[in-house]
Amino acid sequence: MERITISFGIKEEERDLVSEILYEAFSEKLKPVFGSKKKSLRIFSRYLNAPKILVAREKGKIVGVAGLKYDNVNWLNLNLFDAIREFGFLIFRVGIIGFPLVATRLKGDLLLDVLAVSPEARGRGIGTKMLQFLLSFGKERNLKKVRLYVIRTNEGAKRLYERMGFTIVKLHKIPRPWRNVFHFDGYFEMERSLNSD
Ligand SMILES: CC(C)(COP(=O)(O)OP(=O)(O)OC[C@H]1O[C@@H](n2cnc3c(N)ncnc32)[C@H](O)[C@@H]1OP(=O)(O)O)[C@@H](O)C(=O)NCCC(=O)NCCS
Repeated sequence: MERITISFGIKEEERDLVSEILYEAFSEKLKPVFGSKKKSLRIFSRYLNAPKILVAREKGKIVGVAGLKYDNVNWLNLNLFDAIREFGFLIFRVGIIGFPLVATRLKGDLLLDVLAVSPEARGRGIGTKMLQFLLSFGKERNLKKVRLYVIRTNEGAKRLYERMGFTIVKLHKIPRPWRNVFHFDGYFEMERSLNSD
């Protein structure tokens, strides 16, 4: 593997690339909520909390992105007022459709909200390296647990998380009316303690 570095923070001119990587990885999940690709990219790009985004770089170029929530830090600075401004009346659609995805997201010490590696860089240990960094980061801050949510059918990502010591604590089923909107019917809540190794 080329030398990969993991660090917090992106430059202004990297917002679009980070948004593309996230969109590519999560469009299946986001499309019903955000609508068009253009709009999703714009929202990501505008509201990314640049200094707090965790990235993997290969020869300086971003190839992996992780979004975390802990203490008062959120990787995406999108509050309710911004959301209303962005979506107008569509906020109801976003709120109602997106509800099952966000309902359980706020508990836990350190939430890994998103993890994405560019398609051409996958399978080379970059995701693993980002998770290792994240676990050390959580320990340094004396946080107790890392939590994440992964779509039930995302076998590859689930296997990666299990290899890194995460275990399933719950299966969240998407309520029936929403199942036809999304292309999945449930997601696993996984966690890993930071106390022991
Ligand atoms: C999941 C993801 C972040 C892993 O990053 P990565 O750099 O490819 O991971 P690593 O190389 O460290 O580990 C490879 C493992 O990732 C998993 N993986 C998931 N999707 C993969 C893909 N498209 N290509 C290669 N590996 C993939 C596999 O479990 C693989 O392990 P295996 O050898 O047992 O099959 C990355 O594949 C990705 O961005 N996928 C799309 C977005 C996504 O599903 N994110 C997680 C949702 S919570």
